Amino acid sequence: MPSMTIKEFVAKEKEQLSAEVAALPHIPHLVIIQANDSPASDAYVRGKIKDCDEVGARATLCLLPPTTEEDYLLGKIAEYNEDEDVDGIIVQLPLPSHISEAKVKLAVDPKKDVDGFHPLTSFVPCTPKGIVDYLTEEGFPFVGKNAVVLGRSEIVGKPMAKLLLSKHCNVTVLHSRTTEEDKAFYIAHADLIVVAIGRLGFLDARFKYKPSAVIVDVGINRNEEGKLRGDAVAGLPVALQTPVPGGVGLLTRLALVKNLIIAAKSR
Ligand code: GUN
Repeated sequence: MPSMTIKEFVAKEKEQLSAEVAALPHIPHLVIIQANDSPASDAYVRGKIKDCDEVGARATLCLLPPTTEEDYLLGKIAEYNEDEDVDGIIVQLPLPSHISEAKVKLAVDPKKDVDGFHPLTSFVPCTPKGIVDYLTEEGFPFVGKNAVVLGRSEIVGKPMAKLLLSKHCNVTVLHSRTTEEDKAFYIAHADLIVVAIGRLGFLDARFKYKPSAVIVDVGINRNEEGKLRGDAVAGLPVALQTPVPGGVGLLTRLALVKNLIIAAKSR
């Protein structure tokens, strides 16, 4: 059983972060560049701005139309890279298809890359960082534990696997080409399952789980009623399962604020 809900954990951490921000010589400043008109991105961005407000940091939204030219976007990033009043820069994904995500990720100054997307970044990507911080608070004993990561995306699966390896877990990454038989085998032996594949209710009662297992649900899907649901059905027979909504999304946003504060401290 979790010692506290994710909402409680985030509220407690934010109190601490507010105190840290108040003690800084300047107000941490995050710039969010959004060049899409996706309602999901609008919601994420609103959440990130709210989090900054709550801890006393500043957030500036640079909202560009989806027709924005790649060069214009790269120019904006260069401007914010140069701006000494800006500590952190994130470019909200997804980008319109005519803009190269790889070029954009490389354009952000690694010292301001609070999303942790640049290959030379010193920041841990937000979703994996948020998850590990929460599991640490819950006392999850990473060393030598069997961790299964479902999904191999650049934003979650790959950095999650790398971070769990650095915590000394035995890490197995499963993906769309893994057979059902192998998925069942690895899931049955897992102490930690991080699922990030974007398939409504993929983890369900057809799999066997260790009763002591922890399931971290990164999925964000809409069910038939349009309600937000994860990649796992609720109430699986494990020791801890993170909810959707009210789960990993909050942890990701918390980790972003932490990265911003680290960036501000090194200004
Ligand atoms: N879109 C979905 N998740 C993320 C994220 O963590 N960072 C950015 N920049 N865009 C996203």
